[in-house]
Amino acid sequence: MTDLSAIVAPLLAWYRLHARKLPWRENPTPYRVWISEIMLQQTRVETVKPYFHRFLAALPEVSKLAAAPEEELQRLWSGLGYYRRARQLQRAAQQIMNEHHGVFPSRYEQVRALPGIGDYTAGAILSIAFNQPEPAVDGNVLRVLARLTDCRDEVQNPAVRRRFAGALRAVYPAGRCGDFTQSLMELGAVVCTPQRTPDCAACPLAAHCLARVRGSVDQLPVRTPVRERRSEQRTVLMLLHENRVALRRRPPHGLLAGLWEFPNREGELAPEELKTLLTERGLEPEGFTPGPAARHLFTHLEWRLSSWFIRCRNAAGADELHWVPREALGRDYPLPAAFRACQKALLNMKLV
Ligand code: ADE
Repeated sequence: MTDLSAIVAPLLAWYRLHARKLPWRENPTPYRVWISEIMLQQTRVETVKPYFHRFLAALPEVSKLAAAPEEELQRLWSGLGYYRRARQLQRAAQQIMNEHHGVFPSRYEQVRALPGIGDYTAGAILSIAFNQPEPAVDGNVLRVLARLTDCRDEVQNPAVRRRFAGALRAVYPAGRCGDFTQSLMELGAVVCTPQRTPDCAACPLAAHCLARVRGSVDQLPVRTPVRERRSEQRTVLMLLHENRVALRRRPPHGLLAGLWEFPNREGELAPEELKTLLTERGLEPEGFTPGPAARHLFTHLEWRLSSWFIRCRNAAGADELHWVPREALGRDYPLPAAFRACQKALLNMKLV
C-alpha cells in the first residue's frame, strides 16, 4: 500500500498557516459539520456561506430540524438546489431523535446509516467533529492523491477510492484528525486545483509529488467522460389573474419532488396551443406576452425553458392550481432554482 506518512507534517503545517476561515470551521460540532458537508456536496463554498448562517440561525439543533415544517425547510433551502438533500437531512434528524435520543451518533456504522450520509460525509463528520481517524475522500482529495501517487487508474472507480481511503486511514495523526481531513480538501480546493496547471509552486507536498516529478500533473486525475445528459425543452406558463399567479405542486416522487412550480409542459408551445390547453381547463386566457428563456442543469437532465406571461380573466384551473399573491413568490412559496428567471421577471413586472 502507498505510504503517505511523509505528507502529514507538511500538510498540517501548511493548513495551520493557510486555511481559509470558513463558518463551519469555527465551533465544528457534529450538527454544524453535517449541515455544511451536505450543503457543500453540490454547491460552491461561497454560495453555501449565507445559506449555512441562515439555516443554523433558524434551526440551530437536531431537534429543531427534525420538527421543522416543510415550508420552512423549503424556504431555507430554496436556491441551493438538489432539494432531496434537505428532505434527507430532516429524515436523518428525525432518526437521530428516535434512535439516538437526539444526540448525534459517533460510531461509523451509526453515522453511515443516516439518510443522505455516504462514506465521504461519514468520514468528514467523524474526523472533523469527533476527531476520529476516518478519511473523507471527495473529488478534491481524489485529485490530490492521484497526482501525489501518479495514479493512472480512473478515480471514480470505487476500488481506487477504497485504496486511497485505506492509505489515508493508516496515517491519520492522533488529535489532528479534523485538520488532516480538511487540509487535504483545502489543498485540492485552492492549490492542487482541477486546472491542467495547478499552483505547484505553492504546494507543501511538491517535493513528494510523483506526478510533478514525472510531468503528468496535467493528465491527472484520469476520469471517465461525463455521462450524457438528456435535454428537454419545456414551456413555462406564468398565469396571472389580477395580482395573483398560479402555482402547482410537483408530484411527491422524482425530480424536484413535492416542490412548488409554475405550470409547465414538455415542448415549445405556441400561444394557440396554450390557449386550447387552458380553455379545456376552464381558464379564460386573454393576453400572451413572451417571458424569459432559461437553461437549467440537473445531474442527468437539462431543461431548456421558454415562458409566457398569460393574463387570465378568471382564476380557475381545477384543484391543481393555487393562485397566490405575486409578492408571496419566493417568500412563502419557494421555487426551485430552475424557475428563478421566471420568478424574477414576475416580481419585477408592472401590472397594468
Ligand atoms: N468542501 C467539502 N467540505 C468542505 C470543508 N469542510 N471545507 C471546505 N470545503 C469543503
